[in-house]
Amino acid sequence: MCGIFCYIGPRNAVRLVLEGIQKLEYRGYDSSGIALVSEGKLIFVKKMGKVAVLQAAIENQLSQQHLVAHTAVAHTRWATHGKPSDTNAHPHSDRKELCAVVHNGIIENHEAVRHLLEKRGIIFRSETDTEVISQLIGYLYKGNFLKAVQRGLALLQGAFALAVVHQNHPHEVICAAKESPLAIGIGEGEMFIASDPYAFVNHTKRAIYLHSSEIAVVTKNSVRAFNSRLLPIQKESEDLKLDVQEAIKGKYPHYMLKEIFEQPQTIQNALLSRYSEEYGTAILEGAHFSDEDLLKIQRIIILGCGTSYHAGMLGAYMLQEKARIPVEVEISSEFRYKNPIVVENTLAIAISQSGETADTLAALKELKAKGAKILGICNVQGSSIAREVDSSLFLRAGPEIGVASTKAFTSQVIILALLTLKLARMRLMGQNEGKQYIECLKRLPSQVKEVLEQADYIQSLAKKYAHYEDFFFLGRRLMYPTALEAALKLTEIAYVNAKGYPAGEMKHGPIALINESCPTLAFCADAVTYQKILSNMMEIKARGGKILAVVPEGATDIKKVADDIFWVPKTIDELSPICSTLFGQLFAYYVALERGTEIDQPRNLAKSVTVE
Ligand code: F6R
Repeated sequence: MCGIFCYIGPRNAVRLVLEGIQKLEYRGYDSSGIALVSEGKLIFVKKMGKVAVLQAAIENQLSQQHLVAHTAVAHTRWATHGKPSDTNAHPHSDRKELCAVVHNGIIENHEAVRHLLEKRGIIFRSETDTEVISQLIGYLYKGNFLKAVQRGLALLQGAFALAVVHQNHPHEVICAAKESPLAIGIGEGEMFIASDPYAFVNHTKRAIYLHSSEIAVVTKNSVRAFNSRLLPIQKESEDLKLDVQEAIKGKYPHYMLKEIFEQPQTIQNALLSRYSEEYGTAILEGAHFSDEDLLKIQRIIILGCGTSYHAGMLGAYMLQEKARIPVEVEISSEFRYKNPIVVENTLAIAISQSGETADTLAALKELKAKGAKILGICNVQGSSIAREVDSSLFLRAGPEIGVASTKAFTSQVIILALLTLKLARMRLMGQNEGKQYIECLKRLPSQVKEVLEQADYIQSLAKKYAHYEDFFFLGRRLMYPTALEAALKLTEIAYVNAKGYPAGEMKHGPIALINESCPTLAFCADAVTYQKILSNMMEIKARGGKILAVVPEGATDIKKVADDIFWVPKTIDELSPICSTLFGQLFAYYVALERGTEIDQPRNLAKSVTVE
């Protein structure tokens, strides 16, 4: 969370860093700011709110001062320590305002360092942990900029990345990464530094990544990298395989809508060359586990947060049912505090779109230390989780910019479905069943298209339900995580209280809340539990609750209980969450549109959650 963007080179640094942090706004948008070196002086502009507010303030200042800068650091913030405000906005500086620091992540021992500095007479201006870094570097600076940064870093604990500029060293930016990656983009006589290379891929496709405890001194023509003891290290540059087009909205009003509509293609990408029709099995290219390793698996633990956790829940149903391996699925932030027991032949699966979620990273490290083999299911290659795991299966979904995860979720489910097929075929699933399973997988992109073609109808349903403040989203078996995911989408982007629940549990308490102002969205595409959820819906109807049901084509008996119906294409239970989720995503999107909320950047959220 939080986005860093810096520029050093001959062009107008102000415009470039503003454009850069705009692209990183998905990482947080509580405040933003820049520091630039102009005519030998460090100038700060910081504003609460989105980058657009900062931009307006800078335009104003620029026209008054004719600022020219060739070195600038910029930041967009997701508040952790201290409320969103101009004062708490980055960059932060030392007491003499000679250096400026932008930072993402958390300094865990910030209080101890703050007390240490306060005892030496330093007065802090903000409540942030970042100011601890800038004050510390300022305090340690005795003319050697690099040495001051290195000595400061040695005193700081946590997972973070940062960049610093100093008034006395106007032609360089020093940056560092500790368990949180930072990318340096190498241009022709110019350099970029960013939390995510997408922010500079329109300028250069060559990049160097800093990883744990590495420091780099960046000038417009050079990058000198060091380890934490300041010994020089050789860093290889990589060619970024990123497509600029993928990261723009195009004809769509929101990234979220664009990403929803990309799903026929992203599902296709997730499937590409990952199955054999001849043998009716999956090919897990990228996962470096031998068939022997896979056969030995006796227990699976799946980790994830939010939407990725919901994908994991679906994976648990599929794997346990089809491969007959005991599976536990755990919320990463809770799991590591359970003192997990890792028995021999445990496979852990860490699911994360960004690959940077701190809770999942911490949980998988705990498991790794206890001897589990870890498979990552990530979207972002080179991310922290992808580097930490034993092997990875990538989603190939392209950048997901909308804060609410959509296409990543369906691709995660596809990968889990493929893993299920592979493990099931190695155990008890016959070749013919495997072949039928693949047929159903292959049909998904066109079935998803069928749902997307009904977007107008979904919008009309959303309009009808948009004024309600409370909802129940119910499902059973594979439709339970599907309901949870749809409820999360509606909650986070439309700010309504949508509670996902297993339908069978309603009678054990929550049914008390059912009345005419609390409608239910019932997800009914799980064949095994279809009759059961029908009974649960009857119980709701009997208490005056309105029902919108998402039902497989042909299930006409639903008409006697549901007020409104959305029909989804039929498939096997394991794959039924895909089309039902598409409905949930579009329903949430159109309700949010109706309510006028900020769809791509919902309040209080950020895309990449790099704090625990
Ligand atoms: C919800 C959403 C979040 C993420 C969660 C985990 O729409 O996007 O709940 O799923 O923060 O993020 P990743 O998958 O990047 O680990």
